[in-house]
Amino acid sequence: MRRIICPSMMCADFANLEKDVEELDKAGTDIFHMDIMDGCFVPNFGMGLQDFELVRKSTDKLVDVHLMIMNPGNYVEMFSELGADIIYIHPEADIHPTRTLDKIRSLGKRAGIAINPGTSVSTITDLLPLVDYVMVMTVNPGFAGQKYLDFTDQKIERLVELKEEFNFEIMVDGAISPEKIEKLSNIGVDGFVLGTSALFGKEESYNEIISRLKKDKL
Ligand code: DX5
Ligand code: ZN
Repeated sequence: MRRIICPSMMCADFANLEKDVEELDKAGTDIFHMDIMDGCFVPNFGMGLQDFELVRKSTDKLVDVHLMIMNPGNYVEMFSELGADIIYIHPEADIHPTRTLDKIRSLGKRAGIAINPGTSVSTITDLLPLVDYVMVMTVNPGFAGQKYLDFTDQKIERLVELKEEFNFEIMVDGAISPEKIEKLSNIGVDGFVLGTSALFGKEESYNEIISRLKKDKL
């Protein structure tokens, strides 16, 4: 069972961001998840470019960027230059998602689509050959600490059926608890973005939490 662990850095301790990155890196993080928001596609503002640069320079692990912004195609070069290894766009926010996904790959980066809870799989099947990751938003994007939306489970199950045919990895993002990791990794989900439900603001150390989450039986 794969369990790619992706800490959602907008939930990190901003008074000690560099230290948090180093501890998370040592604790076994696979991908650092960076939420960028424009206050238009989502009603919030996530991390800033300086936060991105600080995380990037503090780790050699993979860093992704989750662009919750309108017209993401205008910014993929910028995030590629800033050192993002994986760039997620929301196809709902892009008139030409195929062009943007091609551009991400032409920059030598891995391409991902993040899909809102209300976006059906049938609307994105033509994009599946163009991506390395499909990230299912299991909350309405924009905020940490929300409740898991159960109706997204059927979409996840459909993508598990499709992933072998198109060779992408399935990630989930939003209100992911240890119980959700157990359940979803057993059905074939590969990666988990972790914010306040499973990782941040807990008594245990990052090391204790991540090593427990990576075990097959939580
Ligand atoms: C929400 C972000 C998520 C969020 C996850 O728009 O994309 O990464 O920060 O945090 P929790 O796990 O608290 O929902
Ligand atoms: Zn995210």
